[in-house]
Amino acid sequence: MSRFSLRDDELKADWKTSVDLFEYQARDLFESYGVPVLPGIIADTPEDVRAAAEKLGGVTVVKAQVKVGGRGKAGGVKVAKDADAAEEAAKSILGLDIKGHVVKRVMVAGGARIAQEFYFSVLLDRANRSYLSLTSYEGGMEIEQLAVERPEALARIEVDPIKGIDLETAKQIAVDAKFPEELIEKVAPVFVKLWEVYKGEDATLVEVNPLVLTEEGDIIALDGKVSLDENAGFRHPGHEALEDADAADPLEAKAKKNDLNYVKLDGEVGVIGNGAGLVMSTLDVVSYAGEKHGGVKPANFLDIGGGASAQVMANGLDVILGDPQVKSVFVNVFGGITACDAVANGIVGALEVLGDTATKPLVVRLDGNKVEEGRAILEKAAHPLVTLALTMDDGADKAAELAHAAK
Ligand SMILES: Nc1ncnc2c1ncn2[C@@H]1O[C@H](COP(=O)(O)OP(=O)(O)OP(=O)(O)O)[C@@H](O)[C@H]1O
Ligand SMILES: [Mg+2]
Repeated sequence: MSRFSLRDDELKADWKTSVDLFEYQARDLFESYGVPVLPGIIADTPEDVRAAAEKLGGVTVVKAQVKVGGRGKAGGVKVAKDADAAEEAAKSILGLDIKGHVVKRVMVAGGARIAQEFYFSVLLDRANRSYLSLTSYEGGMEIEQLAVERPEALARIEVDPIKGIDLETAKQIAVDAKFPEELIEKVAPVFVKLWEVYKGEDATLVEVNPLVLTEEGDIIALDGKVSLDENAGFRHPGHEALEDADAADPLEAKAKKNDLNYVKLDGEVGVIGNGAGLVMSTLDVVSYAGEKHGGVKPANFLDIGGGASAQVMANGLDVILGDPQVKSVFVNVFGGITACDAVANGIVGALEVLGDTATKPLVVRLDGNKVEEGRAILEKAAHPLVTLALTMDDGADKAAELAHAAK
């Protein structure tokens, strides 16, 4: 018997995830916190790139905006001596496939005259329940490679969440990372500002690779990777706009709009329940039942929470029924504060709201507070799509059987 593995989905559904930003978004954030950056202009076409390069003047760098590392090596970062060259660079970068990410946008950045490259990052160190700063005076190398080949060149410093990186800590980081005396005073204030970005935005990662010293003697963040903690989204109304709407699963996006705790999986049996624990057990039971019915599996995680009103039920069903892979739905609810009669009315109401768009069979198992009343309501409504199940195992079995039959 193989049990359905929940860990990743549990993570996604319950604790949410991070939002990874594009480089240009990180650049903008850095700028707003006073981190030294070069000007950058976003463009989607070679013509716009030319205009951007003309506006910036001088040497520019055309940079692919994709959320994957190693853009430079893949040909996604090109130095251009003038606007003509920038336009040519854009032609080769736009449409380029970098590790499965097709470049739709580039950033035209001012060109730096680089004297030296460094590495700096702050990240959430889950294992140690702390923050960690990784810093190196030796840049220009992939950080993973540096960590393996020359671990002594990478300073790993635990950051006290209360104290954070103040100027004194920043100087200590620079010393530990083997920056020479004369650079310490220059890089330390930039480390402090990058920490302020991390803290102020509730990030889980702020990485600058490379942080550079220019020929003119300035310290500049030339690249930026920022991940934001979605759990803290409520404190940052601006973060929503930073999410990449193109990349989101359309069903997950729709669920999110309706405040539903939904995670798309790849099976055929839609699942709705109340309470994360019950829904996860339901996924297990459906997976198990599916083994007897052609190997069907759960199609999603959906926790409608405590107050399962008709509207919430309708929103949930609407999302699940919108998944073309779904062949049947198992509604598994344990009545507590919201009693089974209210849930049953919710289901009946939801089916009315959805009308003809509800076309897939629904197996409903109710238990707990006012279970008799709840079942009576569903029996009386006698909706042709609804089957009542007495136990969770029976319900899962029936839903799996119906999904298999419809496959
Ligand atoms: N504005 C710039 N001016 C001059 N050189 C730049 C500029 N931006 C990047 N470079 C050079 O290009 C190299 C690669 O740039 P960048 O770090 O942005 O991309 P990458 O490291 O290849 O991508 P990723 O960090 O996603 O792996 C830098 O190490 C730097 O030498
Ligand atoms: Mg980089």
